[in-house]
Amino acid sequence: MIGIAIDGPSGAGKSTIARALAKELGYIYVDTGAIYRTVGLYMYRVGVSTEDTAGIEKNLPDVRFALRYENGEQKMYLGDEDVSDKIRTPIIAKYASVVSAVPSVRAFLLETQKKLARENNVIMDGRDIGTVILPHADVKIFLTASAESRADRRVKQLAEKGEIVGYEETLAAIRERDERDSGRDVAPLKPAEDAVLLDTSALNLEESVAAAKRIVEDRLAAKKVQHTAKKKDKNRRGFYRWVVNYIGPIVRCCMRLHVYGAEKEQTEGPLLVCANHTAMLDVFSLTLTFKRQLRYLAKKELFKIPLLSQLISALGAYAVDRGANDVGAIKKTLSLLADGEAVGMFPQGTRYRGVDPAKTPVKSGVGMMVYRSHADVQPVFIRVKNYKYRFLRRKDVIIGDPIRYEEFGFTNGGKEEYERAAQLVFDRILALRNEGLDP
Ligand code: DC
Repeated sequence: MIGIAIDGPSGAGKSTIARALAKELGYIYVDTGAIYRTVGLYMYRVGVSTEDTAGIEKNLPDVRFALRYENGEQKMYLGDEDVSDKIRTPIIAKYASVVSAVPSVRAFLLETQKKLARENNVIMDGRDIGTVILPHADVKIFLTASAESRADRRVKQLAEKGEIVGYEETLAAIRERDERDSGRDVAPLKPAEDAVLLDTSALNLEESVAAAKRIVEDRLAAKKVQHTAKKKDKNRRGFYRWVVNYIGPIVRCCMRLHVYGAEKEQTEGPLLVCANHTAMLDVFSLTLTFKRQLRYLAKKELFKIPLLSQLISALGAYAVDRGANDVGAIKKTLSLLADGEAVGMFPQGTRYRGVDPAKTPVKSGVGMMVYRSHADVQPVFIRVKNYKYRFLRRKDVIIGDPIRYEEFGFTNGGKEEYERAAQLVFDRILALRNEGLDP
């Protein structure tokens, strides 16, 4: 399924542009603001005040909203009532903005939005589509326009409908809403790192649609190029499958690998597989355990050794220049993840032979990777006696539940957040250490 995310403040033209693009591409258009507005309308109707967060939370489970498509148009329902027009008033706009800042409201609406994107080609507009709802969207656009030009458009729009409102009060209301939407703690309005910014202040509607269309076409074309490049990878993968299917079982048996939690493997989408690190052989333990192919960073020097070089690259390793700065390796890793691959990483940054992993430091690198890639993380504990590998010694590979990107609660990135995220990953790895052992 293809997902296109359009985020930005109110009045930047998101819905008009998204609707026009959806029509052209034959995708469905999902207006997520309308969902928040519907929850807002419900709260307004039951008489909860905008200051009463507890009241909003208390009434939330009773909101029976539904999204339906009639003649290609999204309609919002509260129970059996079509409220699509009733949610378009200034007071409901305010309610929507207020309820959308309540974390439990966002959590309540999360799955509905994700499901729509899983099951359809969608263009979704909102505030957190590129960052939270569709972190792996094929195209992300962040649409902005100055508050003044948005106020100007709004006044004209309403005048066409025969409603006369003042420019100054409209501008003030827009500023107030911007402030609330970007200043809040949960899902504040901000562009995803990989979003293309489009400022429509100086563009009219047709020009804005044309500009957005160009971005979408360019991005989708670039993706197609990647798809072709992927085909070239097929040979490498063929060899990989052959090794894993025919040689794998023998090696697995000799290495005495025992796998726990195989059913927890996240088999699709970008994934960082993170394990504790005792020996080089950890790489084999993981490769022979996971159903999907894992990619690894490997020392550049290894690629100079004939045969070994072919073998490890066929098995999914890619080179990193250790001494030099590793910008290239980071970029390569991010591009693999962007292509939906799974990359193996060791949060400790290096091997610790004979040392209890609970007593080793954790590097922040994994945290940074998660933040920049928006990938989910699958923690794995590799258990060997005394933390020392012997080829014939039993190795338990314990797979834990994936950690969703959202769980990390990143706000603006930065060293502290990366460290916290890396620690969270490592804690989840350590939490697996006694799985399957007798108490
Ligand atoms: O786009 P809109 O004006 O219809 O959105 C109504 C409110 O909902 C707006 O104040 C911000 C909020 N919203 C949100 O927080 N997240 C979204 N994905 C969409 C809207």
